[in-house]
Amino acid sequence: MSKIELRTIKVFGGASKKLVSELEVDELSMDLTLMEFLRLKKVPVASSCYGEGVCRKCIVKVEETEVLSCMMTIKHFLNNHEPVVLISYL
Ligand code: FES
Repeated sequence: MSKIELRTIKVFGGASKKLVSELEVDELSMDLTLMEFLRLKKVPVASSCYGEGVCRKCIVKVEETEVLSCMMTIKHFLNNHEPVVLISYL
């Protein structure tokens, strides 16, 4: 029997300077973009290009680097980064 590994993403607010949310990730969420996942979990992420990678409103900080959350899947995020996101306006 395979073990399902649950992962948690911590969301910090840049404005509030505190932990805003801890979000559990299930297997079904792995192919969502980080933006889609955050919105699904009721974390507001700005967008005016509907995830086309054009407007740059969906920028979040991952390990001190600004990334377009609409261009990164949860799978890629969890496999390559600490599971921590900073959103400046929260
Ligand atoms: S939603 Fe527009 S660049 Fe990500």
